[in-house]
Amino acid sequence: MNDYHHRFSVAPMLGWTDRHCRYFYRQLSKYTLLYTEMINTKKIINNENSCLDFNEDKHLVALQLSGSNSSELAYCARLAQHHGYKEINLNIGCPSYRAQKGYFGACLMTNANLVGDNIKAIYDVVDIPVTIKTRIGVDEKDSYTFLSDFIGNVSKISGCRNFIFHARKAILSKYNPKKNRKIPILKYSYVYNIKRDFPSFTIIINGGIETLEEAQIHLQYLDGVMIGRAIYSNPRILSEVDSKIFGCKKQVHPILLVRNMYPYINNELKNDIKINKILRHMLYLFKGIPGSSKWRRYLSNNIHKSDTGIWMIEEALKTIKFD
Ligand SMILES: Cc1cc2nc3c(=O)[nH]c(=O)nc-3n(C[C@H](O)[C@H](O)[C@H](O)COP(=O)(O)O)c2cc1C
Repeated sequence: MNDYHHRFSVAPMLGWTDRHCRYFYRQLSKYTLLYTEMINTKKIINNENSCLDFNEDKHLVALQLSGSNSSELAYCARLAQHHGYKEINLNIGCPSYRAQKGYFGACLMTNANLVGDNIKAIYDVVDIPVTIKTRIGVDEKDSYTFLSDFIGNVSKISGCRNFIFHARKAILSKYNPKKNRKIPILKYSYVYNIKRDFPSFTIIINGGIETLEEAQIHLQYLDGVMIGRAIYSNPRILSEVDSKIFGCKKQVHPILLVRNMYPYINNELKNDIKINKILRHMLYLFKGIPGSSKWRRYLSNNIHKSDTGIWMIEEALKTIKFD
């Protein structure tokens, strides 16, 4: 099995799912679709090469764009396809003040015509799948009818049939992004109703899903599940995805997962990348295993030092006590 698919994905997370994180996640799961952090079109246009760079994890990586200028989005999408990304995703969920000021993210939910035009412009220039990641409403526009009209209009204009729902609305006026991931209540029923009303669409659910058992229940009714924070705070969940979600038996021992990173780490060190940029994503790998907090403490205390290297990771591994 090596097809691009949406059955299971790791959410785009700004500041977290950078290329080092994705490289690590690819060691944990071969088949999970990984999303980049949100990248604004302006950033790509000003700095094309480095911000689209990624490692060998390119087989199943989707680029998340933010922006609302159709020609800029089309330009970036075409460039991304050229770089080897497997999907273009448009962010219609970011609630930050910066996003509102720049007219991208969640505030675009009130402008289905523009989102439709944006997506159409992307479709016109790429052959890879195009998806939208959206909230289920924004501020007081939070009825199911508002959401289904938004989806219906966007798809009518653009032909897009692939939607990822963070199943809570965005409250733009009052809360920052962190609170907007917690305070507005989750309404999975909206996502299920969209699948009922648009049965031929690919519908992916996201928000508050903590375990693969929960994911499996959603997968009985929906096309895909996306998880963010639960994986970042416990990456071993991801190491069970290939067996539990995709039916592939192979599972790698966590210590081997760390050691499999060594060639990558050495290579990045040679390119003057600081080791903490990579190891910070691995701090929670042993969550729940005796010694896990010592592993975290050892690394946290040492990863900023100048004479670090693989030897330091080997020292930290000695703190983990497997049965
Ligand atoms: C640190 C952080 C950064 C995030 N950055 C993005 C982003 O760049 N683009 C996006 O669409 N969502 C972003 N999100 C939201 C997640 O993609 C996801 O929708 C949200 O966390 C809910 O899923 P979860 O409960 O599984 O974490 C971010 C979330 C976190 C925690």
